[in-house]
Amino acid sequence: MAYSEKVMDHFANPRNVGEMEDPSGVGEVGNSRCGDIMRMYIKVDGDTITDVKFKTFGCGAAIATSSMATELIKGKKIEDALKLTNKAVMEALDGLPPVKVHCSVLAEQAIKAAVSDYYKRQGIDPTPFVGEVPACEECACDAH
Ligand code: FES
Repeated sequence: MAYSEKVMDHFANPRNVGEMEDPSGVGEVGNSRCGDIMRMYIKVDGDTITDVKFKTFGCGAAIATSSMATELIKGKKIEDALKLTNKAVMEALDGLPPVKVHCSVLAEQAIKAAVSDYYKRQGIDPTPFVGEVPACEECACDAH
């Protein structure tokens, strides 16, 4: 299966790349299999994610999924951002080859990790809101 045009577009022109000064939360997740790392920064105002930035040291699919994920959660309420699944990110990109499904899991995990960090900075236990951020080995995808 070839990459969709949307995947190629987000890989070649990723949105919201970079670092953020004074973020409300930062999450970093890695895939122990391929060694790729994704870091996501969020700015929160009230209960809304007003800005998102990411840095991905990884494969093209990881870059494309993190780019799309940032687009999908920017301007959303935290509770809605937490509902974003890797499947929704993949659908928004018109699909990924099966061997690249795990790359999209990284994007979902990075959002959850950033929101967890946000809650911790507020002195709030994130577990009731975010749950445990699953390690990639425990994710539901069948790419391993
Ligand atoms: Fe590592 Fe895609 S191969 S995230």
